[in-house]
This record gives sequence, structure tokens and C-alpha cells, in this order.
Amino acid sequence: MFITFEGPEGCGKSTHAKRLKAFLEGKGYQVVLTREPGGTQVGKNIRDLLLDPQSVLDENTEVYLFAADRSEHVSKIILPALESGKAVISDRFIDSTLAYQIGGRGLPEDLVRYLVMVSSKGLMPDLTILLDVAPEIGLRRATKDTIADRFEKEKMEFHQRVREKYLEIAKADPERIKVINTDNREIDDIQEEIRCRINEKL
Ligand code: TYD
Repeated sequence: MFITFEGPEGCGKSTHAKRLKAFLEGKGYQVVLTREPGGTQVGKNIRDLLLDPQSVLDENTEVYLFAADRSEHVSKIILPALESGKAVISDRFIDSTLAYQIGGRGLPEDLVRYLVMVSSKGLMPDLTILLDVAPEIGLRRATKDTIADRFEKEKMEFHQRVREKYLEIAKADPERIKVINTDNREIDDIQEEIRCRINEKL
């Protein structure tokens, strides 16, 4: 079982991914919780380059770095875990690249989709939870106690395009991608809905 969490800044993915791990472990599954970018040793360095607000990156370089991070992640972490019978939860995966690099940055759809396919080795999640949030709310949450990273510093229009692209991708693949709105909702309530989606899949 390969589950991914997706969504704009401050949607609460990391909190819910951790809680879902505990829930699945309670059901007897062995679970690997990982993330992109930065799920591998090399990936941590790539993550620093991508998120550092001081990094000045061409947008093509940016998408190649995400692809490099994913290639490492799929071959070193995700596939070995799935092959040994574990469940894998990844905090971000392919849909982040589609939403941020096509939607946010405006890179050509065919280039980005090709890079996504090659870097993921064609691996698709069994289920994707898209935590939707209005950019104003999400950004406020994301930057409350920390310095804004290179993406969080982008303009509001960038974040709006990311959100719209996410919703478009979800509409095109409703079987895999389940959209859960998180605006003004309690964490427990959202987690309950996520667990319902997972149970349906199990
Ligand atoms: P993340 O660690 O999830 O940030 P946060 O916890 O603040 O949501 O992700 C890092 C950033 O990288 C995030 O702003 C989204 C961006 N990103 C892309 O632009 N493309 C990608 O393919 C991935 C995986 C992430």
C-alpha cells in the first residue's frame, strides 16, 4: 500500500501523515513514513538547495532537482519498503511536481510529466490524500513560527495557481486522489475523514 499526502503550504500534511502512520501500525501494518524532497541522504542536500531562500535557481534547474530527489527516493526508500511488504506513506510525491512546477511555475506540461514519469519509474500511489486549503490560511499557518522558505516566500498568485492545479489534477483522477478541505476544521475531524478513505481502500 502506497499512500501519499499532498496539498498547498500549511495544509497540515505532516501532522496527518504522522497520525495515519500510528493508525495503520495499530492495525498491524509495518509503515515507513517518508517525504519529498529530502527522504534520502542525498535528498537532504537537495532539499536544502531547493528550500534555502538564498538559493537563486532557474526554474528548469528546480524541476531537475526535484526529479533527482525523487529518483533516489523511489529506488532507495519507497520500492524496497513496498517490496518487503511494508506500507509507505510519503509526505508529497508526483502531484507536488505537477501542481508546483506546472501550475505554480508555468513550466511546459509535457516536459514536467515526462520528468515525473522517469523519476518515479512509473510508480503511482494507491491512494492520494489532497488536503486542500485556501492559500491565505495555509501560508499564515506555515510561517507562524518559522522563517519562510523559498516557496513560502512566493507571491499569493503563485500559491493560488498551485492550489488550482492540484484541484484540476484531482478532478482528472478521482479514483486515486481524494480531496479533503481543511479550512476552519478541527484536526481530529479531518483525521477521521482520512481514516474513512483509507478504510474504504483497505
Ligand atoms: P514541504 O517539506 O512539504 O514543505 P512544507 O512542510 O512547508 O509544506 O515541501 C517543500 C516545498 O517543496 C514545498 O513548498 C513544495 C515544494 N515542492 C515542489 O515545488 N515540487 C515538488 O515536486 C515537491 C516534492 C515539493
